[in-house]
Amino acid sequence: MTRRFFRPAPRLRGTLVAPPDKSLSHRAALLAAMSAEPVRVTGYLHAEDTHSTLRAVEALGTLVQERPDELVLRGPGLRNAAEPEGGAVIDVGNAGTLIRLVTGWLAGQPGGGTWTLDGDASIRARPMGRVVEPLRGLGAQIEARAGGLAPLVVSGRALTGAHYDMPVASAQVKSALLLAGILADGRTSVREPAPSRDHTERLLLRAGVDVRREGDVVSVGCHDELELEAIHVPGDPSSAAFAVAAAVLVPGSRIVVEGMAANWTRVGFYRILERMGGVVVGPLEAPGGPLAADEPVCELDVSHGPLVATTVEPDEVPLGIDELPLVALLGCFAEGETVVRGAQELRHKESDRIATVVDGLRGLGADLEATPDGFVVRGTGGLEGGVLEAHGDHRLAMLGAVAGLASRAGVEVVGMEAAAVSYPGFVEDLAGLTGS
Ligand code: S3P
Repeated sequence: MTRRFFRPAPRLRGTLVAPPDKSLSHRAALLAAMSAEPVRVTGYLHAEDTHSTLRAVEALGTLVQERPDELVLRGPGLRNAAEPEGGAVIDVGNAGTLIRLVTGWLAGQPGGGTWTLDGDASIRARPMGRVVEPLRGLGAQIEARAGGLAPLVVSGRALTGAHYDMPVASAQVKSALLLAGILADGRTSVREPAPSRDHTERLLLRAGVDVRREGDVVSVGCHDELELEAIHVPGDPSSAAFAVAAAVLVPGSRIVVEGMAANWTRVGFYRILERMGGVVVGPLEAPGGPLAADEPVCELDVSHGPLVATTVEPDEVPLGIDELPLVALLGCFAEGETVVRGAQELRHKESDRIATVVDGLRGLGADLEATPDGFVVRGTGGLEGGVLEAHGDHRLAMLGAVAGLASRAGVEVVGMEAAAVSYPGFVEDLAGLTGS
């Protein structure tokens, strides 16, 4: 386990090229594999999670060519996913997006075939019933371990479109159903209790699928062949959020973030940050517009600002779910009480992020407590520092690093290697901005 010390930073200055987006990289590889013709993917994220996806699509019959500036994927097409040689298990590693989305695709393979999907200890503890149950509603045959846990055994078969009312907003569940839906007879629709990231819908629209959003319902029709020649993956707002939070917290900082996805379903954190007094200037996509096929990109100019507390309401949660640990950290520095409500989903991430964030920040001197669906943070104007355990969770490791830069005494992160799941260049990028 790597222990790494992050000392208080005098300030952050410079330009961060946002690392490639993890959510979009998973989808780019999967949809490329599902396409009839070769697909060029530029800007693909080279990290542990997204390498799991490349290995998975290879096992399903995709030829992946790695060229200096792009990947070329020649997949088996929508209805011809291969069974891995010798019935090998497909290892998704730590990637929740991969296991949930690929299950939708494989469940609808009309020519049969059986696939076993498994992952690390964290994946085996995360709820899979949330995709298995609704896919069964389309006629899918999927076996899970007791309690709806991985490994999953998926048998391909012809599916019939259906409607599903999602009890919690989850882009992974929605995407699994839409991918199965394009293989199913008739229409498949999903109602979301609140908007969640819409990358799958945008890519399907670009690929020629009849995908519609009407109010809170997204639906797809049965489709023959996906047509995608090239996909560009923009920068990841969730990864960039760590340097952005550090720049807002450390006095005298000013950074520019380049090439970041500005999709309104991904930038909830940036709106929360502005509300708290962080100075973020840049053209984020306006919320709630009609479904678009493109992924807008923006440049942000971020500087330090005195922070005030805020309340994050349940309908904002899916738009910034992965950044809520950073909201807890910002709350430590803000004047007043910062509250996050309706975020019980945090308990089902790579770690129980309500427990690990609250324990982790408390260990650094923060005044905060867990609630069943979020946390309450009392701002004390700063943070002392200490040791933070990452619990194998990439976002927690990076949270500890940012806390260290903004703290009085520095933070030692235990398990820093977890950052490689989504952001292998994280420590180097931070060092570039702090000049250390
Ligand atoms: C993701 C959706 C979110 C998010 C995860 C990535 C995706 O999960 O937390 O990091 O790529 O669709 P849920 O769909 O479970 O909310």
